[in-house]
Amino acid sequence: MESTRKHLIELLTKQEGHISGQQLSEQLNISRTAVWKHMNELKKDGYEIEAVQRKGYKIHGFPDKISENTLQWGLETRWMGHQLYHYDQVESTQEIVHQMAKQGKPHGTVVVADEQVGGKGRMARSWDSPKGKGIWMSFLLKPDLPPVEAPQLTLLAATVIAKMIDERSDLEPQIKWPNDVLIHHKKVSGILTEMQAEQDTIQYIVLGIGMNVNQEEEDIPSDIRYKASSFKIESGLDWNIQKTIQHFLTLFESSYDQFIRDGFQSVKEDWEKYGYKIGENVTISTMKETWEATLLGIEPDGALRARRKTGEEEKLYSAEIHW
Ligand code: BTN
Repeated sequence: MESTRKHLIELLTKQEGHISGQQLSEQLNISRTAVWKHMNELKKDGYEIEAVQRKGYKIHGFPDKISENTLQWGLETRWMGHQLYHYDQVESTQEIVHQMAKQGKPHGTVVVADEQVGGKGRMARSWDSPKGKGIWMSFLLKPDLPPVEAPQLTLLAATVIAKMIDERSDLEPQIKWPNDVLIHHKKVSGILTEMQAEQDTIQYIVLGIGMNVNQEEEDIPSDIRYKASSFKIESGLDWNIQKTIQHFLTLFESSYDQFIRDGFQSVKEDWEKYGYKIGENVTISTMKETWEATLLGIEPDGALRARRKTGEEEKLYSAEIHW
């Protein structure tokens, strides 16, 4: 957020009573007309600001409404979301970030939408993204990694979502390999990673995150109700979408930096804390067949290790674990 606005909100928030336009203009080193213009912008963003003649301004309420400003306000990241774009409705945030990548937008650019009308899931599925009920966002990442390591970022994102849920609630999130986040055995969040690469170099990655936050039971499409849920359904509480996004971006930045610095080991350890059905028997489908397996954990490169009934162990890079 523009620093004058940040500073203005800070001054309004700290002031117990009213603060005059003159005081604001002196402290911010801008004209009184500029103060007035900023106030109008803040009101548009949903800040409740009272203006009383000869007394000045007083803030009464902060917006619930998500906007670029309210999302960036209080976001204490070093690079993640420093360029952040918010839309009311889009086809898919993935497409917007692809376009932004082509325009040369920087690493850490974030796009958030209230609603997606063409939300995309993995394996060419669609992703239901109703208005104001969830977090539909994509980021632009430009890691200096070989393309084969890109899937590790998807596992990293899943661990960050699980950690964030863990820190904000009593829920016990789990991760179904590779990256479905579950609560009480139902999927509440999914990740779609799309990469643009050339031979040995990643040009960029668009990492899309969908989190079902405040849907009620009837907001979940009836055909997937047996396996999909939301944070609200599982916790019985309304979640503040803005704070949840900010919390996620902060945790993501620190896990990403650690991953780039020290490698996948720390992600692996986190992933294993949340791994779903590790040590248990499941049915797995790979390209060739469907078989009974015991899940053993993940490999140092993020692949899934599973044991067949015959005792033979397999390292899998692509597989679907059945519900
Ligand atoms: C999955 O199938 O589990 C992945 C779902 C990913 C959904 C998110 S929502 C934000 C971003 N934009 C999209 O169109 N898809 C991803």
